[in-house]
Amino acid sequence: MPKKILISNVLPSESRSMIPSDYAVDYNDTDTPLAKADLMRRLADRDALICHIISTIDEEVVAAAPGLKAICNVAVGFNNIDVAACRKRGIVVTNTPDVLTETTADFAWALLMAAARRVVEADRFARSGQWTRWQWDLLWGNDVYGKTLGIIGFGRIGRAVARRALGFNMRVLYHDTVRADAAAERELRASYVERDTLLRESDFVSLHTLFVPETKHLLNERTLKLMKKTAIVVNAARGPIVDEAALVRALKEGWIAGAGLDVFEEEPKIHPGLLALTNVTVAPHIASASLDTRLAMANLAVRNCVAVLQGKPPITPVS
Ligand code: GLV
Repeated sequence: MPKKILISNVLPSESRSMIPSDYAVDYNDTDTPLAKADLMRRLADRDALICHIISTIDEEVVAAAPGLKAICNVAVGFNNIDVAACRKRGIVVTNTPDVLTETTADFAWALLMAAARRVVEADRFARSGQWTRWQWDLLWGNDVYGKTLGIIGFGRIGRAVARRALGFNMRVLYHDTVRADAAAERELRASYVERDTLLRESDFVSLHTLFVPETKHLLNERTLKLMKKTAIVVNAARGPIVDEAALVRALKEGWIAGAGLDVFEEEPKIHPGLLALTNVTVAPHIASASLDTRLAMANLAVRNCVAVLQGKPPITPVS
């Protein structure tokens, strides 16, 4: 019997060409998510699914596909998939770590720098025709070099962000549920601290945790109020890690100075309060969006899928 795959949204042809030619592939060549009923119908007789974070794979969806053996997310995050429901049914879930680490860390830094040095405001101002004379106090921002960077979530991406901070001669604090080994701390010149200490002492707080129930609204009214008034928050992880309503108040009322955000609680909606503020730099969830990285993610998802269907161990299973 030929293997049957559903690719629920657009995937590069180079990646699709890695699928053995005798597999039956149902391909939704758009970036519009399939409606749940449609997804369930098209998944019903499939052996594997390759999907993006815009597909919500809950227990009901999984239950509609009794022959499903693999769900291969084209993303490092997998909060769109009910992994426990998959595990119960013996379905392997894979993600795409590693290949996007450096690109995502680059973009977290782009947000940090943009927010600190007001790059977006400067661009708007320079284009607007308002730049008619030299002004001593024009668009003053915050220094980055030599400051304290707090990283919450010290996995691959958090560490790649820390590595970049070495070049800016920053003091790096981190917090995670598990402390890194001494060699990693030494190499990255990073110190483990409690979360509240990190929030109190950092000039920049960059979020790199998974989104799980324990990290929902990790930044909230209480924790935002611990931060320095001059601090800047960067979020290139998942929107709901931050209580957006509290963040709006923090930015408006000066509890903190600014934010650089790639992710939002209700994507693709952005809290209108954030859009009204100039001390926020926003991006449409593009931290991993470089040509090479997006292709590498798609290729890895296909390799995971084919491995499972060929009875081999997946390359990057979600643990
Ligand atoms: C993107 O958000 C990812 O999880 O890869």
